[in-house]
Amino acid sequence: MPGDKSISHRAAMIAALADGTSSIKNFSTSADCAATLSCLAALGVTIERDNASLVISGVGIDGLRERQAALDCGNSGTTMRLLAGILAGQDFNSALTGDDSLCSRPMQRIIEPLRMMGARISSDGGRAPLLIQGHKGLSAISYELLVASAQVKSCILLAGLRAAGRTEVIENQPTRDHTERMLRTFGVQIEAGDAKREGENARYAAVNGPARLTARDVSIPGDISSAAYFIAAAALLPGSSMEIRAVGVNPTRVLFLKQLRALGLEVEVTGIHEDNHEPLGVIRIEGSRNQPRGESESPMTIRGLIVPQLIDELPLLAVVGSQIEGGIEIRDAAELRVKESDRIATTALNLRAMGAEVEEFEDGVRVTGAARLRGAKIDSCGDHRIAMAFTVAGLLAEGETEIADSACVAVSFPEFFDLLESVVER
Ligand code: S3P
Repeated sequence: MPGDKSISHRAAMIAALADGTSSIKNFSTSADCAATLSCLAALGVTIERDNASLVISGVGIDGLRERQAALDCGNSGTTMRLLAGILAGQDFNSALTGDDSLCSRPMQRIIEPLRMMGARISSDGGRAPLLIQGHKGLSAISYELLVASAQVKSCILLAGLRAAGRTEVIENQPTRDHTERMLRTFGVQIEAGDAKREGENARYAAVNGPARLTARDVSIPGDISSAAYFIAAAALLPGSSMEIRAVGVNPTRVLFLKQLRALGLEVEVTGIHEDNHEPLGVIRIEGSRNQPRGESESPMTIRGLIVPQLIDELPLLAVVGSQIEGGIEIRDAAELRVKESDRIATTALNLRAMGAEVEEFEDGVRVTGAARLRGAKIDSCGDHRIAMAFTVAGLLAEGETEIADSACVAVSFPEFFDLLESVVER
């Protein structure tokens, strides 16, 4: 698998702020991570790229340069939200913009905590473009996340690198922890653990600023969220057998595998080892001979605390759920409405087009199973994860499926269709 998108963004940004030259291997091939690199280059960071290998000459924590023109984050929420944290504490102004989808997504969630730290940010009613008036003397804060979002947590921690004192983020629902791990790799002391407060799963992460970062050579694990489409397809297509090596198996990212196993699908992880604070492993999948087992008449339910750790896999799980006796119900996932598309609406629309019965809620969907899907015209709405989830549905369906705007897969996984062609037997 190409390098993990989430980890690649962080590696590039953090290497850019380090003292010295870092090399990054297996960097994500996604358009999103390319947007991060072009923003960093515009801010004066020298980056040499040879396919998936990068050499980044770090400019140090004070070394970014002002850019007059707006920085274009493309379709990438991670680029915009994490860079905003880095730029809030600079002694120059900057502007962040993106495509229509990104400019319609909520940014108040980062504006608010950054303002509490003393940043001055104006926006278009809580949406991009963002104008950030740099302010060197940010204050450290302790902040409890209002939305369970790794992007918001990361934005605050990155701003905290430049604030004097201890910046702490408390989350009631655990989210992916790649920023914490990557900062550690680059020599920053990060405290993290269970928060002593009510709410069983509350966690905290804290950084002491001002911090200095030291260049490192890192290798990015394969992207488990990209692998997920292959894993689901192989698990559901009888007779399949697949092994995916060197894929990231960070505990905050593998819940999708647990859900598949709970359905009786054969997915195994072996050979787990750590590299630069991130665990990798080998994932083996055998195509199921039996119907995946549901909880008989009642749907398999996904809700509550685990939702943020499955967020990118939920459209795919809805497709998988259509194949289960009893179906699937996904709730507490209103965040899906503010992703690259409204993923509740786009998942429901396309599953219905393929003949599944779907009920839509404000915070999720219920899909009746087991459905015999039929090929259909799919509207990806320009959303990479919808295009890939419904390609898997197309493999399971009878008849031909056509995905409109399928090129959008390049946002996270440009090799998706070629790689799929190479493993599907006709
Ligand atoms: C990401 C976090 C998630 C996820 C996105 C990548 C990250 O978003 O959906 O694809 O790299 O931190 P939220 O943090 O907004 O939930």
